[in-house]
Amino acid sequence: MVTTLVNTHTNQLKTKKKEVSKETLLTPRFYTTDFETAATISLKDQETQLQAMLTEMRNDYNRYHFVRDDSFKDASWDHLDKDTREGFIQYLERSCISEFSGFLLFKELSRKIKKSNPLMAEIFHLMARDEARHAGYLNKAMSDFNVTLDLGKITKTRSYTFFPLEWVIYTVYLSEKIGYWRYIIIFHHLQKHPEKKFYPIFDKFESWCQDENRHGDIFNALLRSQPKLWNNWKARLWSRFFLLSVFVTHTLTVHERKKFYLSLGINATDFDKEVIRETNNTSARAFPSILDVEHPEFYPRLKRCSDRNLEIKALKNSNKLGIVKTLNKILLIAGIAGDFFKAFLIKPIDTEALRGDIH
Ligand SMILES: [Fe+2]
Ligand SMILES: [Fe+2]
Repeated sequence: MVTTLVNTHTNQLKTKKKEVSKETLLTPRFYTTDFETAATISLKDQETQLQAMLTEMRNDYNRYHFVRDDSFKDASWDHLDKDTREGFIQYLERSCISEFSGFLLFKELSRKIKKSNPLMAEIFHLMARDEARHAGYLNKAMSDFNVTLDLGKITKTRSYTFFPLEWVIYTVYLSEKIGYWRYIIIFHHLQKHPEKKFYPIFDKFESWCQDENRHGDIFNALLRSQPKLWNNWKARLWSRFFLLSVFVTHTLTVHERKKFYLSLGINATDFDKEVIRETNNTSARAFPSILDVEHPEFYPRLKRCSDRNLEIKALKNSNKLGIVKTLNKILLIAGIAGDFFKAFLIKPIDTEALRGDIH
């Protein structure tokens, strides 16, 4: 007991506010949207499903899940090597910002549509509740490594990206579903390899990801309630574009943190492929088109984007002349854009045609 108090006290003394990592194209963003459109959106096509989802959200299955149980007490993480430690802190930071970004958007949506759309306002309020728990839990985990994010400050200082409501629906749907698959695949892997579980937060992932799955299902119902988001050629193009953007971002970030995944005994490339394959399959329930990720060109093109991204990072730290660096960077970015475009042109899968067969 005394030891615990001493440890806690020492940790508090050592815990530093972490400067949030620099915003790049790959860091999770904060979003704002067209709240007037959100307030007047008609939900009649999916009202029964959304009412059922609201009941699920009110049940609050994870009310007692996000507590710091005994597995966190008295444990020490000092034995972790530098790479694992740094990679893990980056992973926690990125996840925390991403969860917090969801919290801010859902909270604002709930507030702005309260009078005009009480059903969605309550659903957004309850999703914000979940995301606040997730972000808080991750931030608390960071404090075990003597760093923490000042989320209040970040709210005020970070820039917000405007997305029309339609884009919000596509991208949040994808981020919830890819989040689900990322958490559950790591959880199942560590169940098979418990010796690789170097920190207790991974035990929480199974119920945690059910929150993300429910959020994804809510966005699925929202998307299907708006026929213009799935019944025309534009919707097909947007679906493919957002799927590919989310998958390329995933491939790039996972390969940037290859060492962290290796510390869990996970091969980054295999993990990336599995997450993409599963998220793409799941998206068939919501999107009018999904990508043919089994096409022989698909993964190699994404991997080439990631290799070039790593070359750009290496270039930054090299001692080449400034002009040479800039020219190399332009060529590498053009290469990434070329592979993105060619991957986009791979013949997609028409999910509306298969709708009766998708469960
Ligand atoms: Fe979350
Ligand atoms: Fe979520």
